[in-house]
Amino acid sequence: MTDNLTACKVAKPDIATRLRRETRDAHCRIEAVMSDLLFATPLDLQAYQDMLKLHRSYYELVEARLGQFRSTAVMMQERSKLSWLDSDIAYLEKDTVQSVADSDYCNSTALVLPENEAQAWGFLYVFEGATLGGGHILDRLRHQPHFKGRSGMRFFHSYGPKTPAMWREFQLSLQHFVAANPGSEKQIINGANLSFSNMYALMKGVQVD
Ligand code: HEM
Repeated sequence: MTDNLTACKVAKPDIATRLRRETRDAHCRIEAVMSDLLFATPLDLQAYQDMLKLHRSYYELVEARLGQFRSTAVMMQERSKLSWLDSDIAYLEKDTVQSVADSDYCNSTALVLPENEAQAWGFLYVFEGATLGGGHILDRLRHQPHFKGRSGMRFFHSYGPKTPAMWREFQLSLQHFVAANPGSEKQIINGANLSFSNMYALMKGVQVD
């Protein structure tokens, strides 16, 4: 009995708990920088479009890398966000001028890509987790006069009503990966923090007027 109690007390947190806990500071930093841009009144449309374009080039780079590892490649078959970003960028193009636009911004920032499959799962965690804040962001953006329906906000709509199910499926798949790859947790968490750092460095480059 005592042994069971002791075992319960020292049970190791699972990967989902560790990721949330060990990337909390990084999430706070990126949320703050994104909130400054997205929740400014009035919304700076040019900065919004620049942000989408930066996301587009970063997601393209990382998604291609995730496609190179067997298990994350399977996940990416139904999780690419590039077409969502493309539709928002096209919608906004008529009202804005090119700035960050087609410049190779990702190339001029020191970005680190996943070096192994475990790190790739950490990067994927950041992209999938970002869909969770989407509903909250949409609620704030939909009052802006520039947007009608989903136009210009497709990226933040993300999986829509399927978002909770997609998140659960992601977490289950992540657990399976960890079960099949004991000791991979550290690399996964490291990958997640690297991806947050990349995004923070990129976002700091978007100027809000
Ligand atoms: C204004 C910007 C943002 C807001 C308001 C926001 C808000 C949120 C909220 C409310 C959740 C929790 C959702 C839930 O538990 O149901 C969440 C989770 C998460 N967000 Fe954000 N977020 C923002 C930006 C981002 C960005 C830019 C990223 C990454 C690129 C990101 C990555 C994540 C991740 C990985 C989680 C999952 C945390 C977990 O393990 O439970 N977020 N966010």
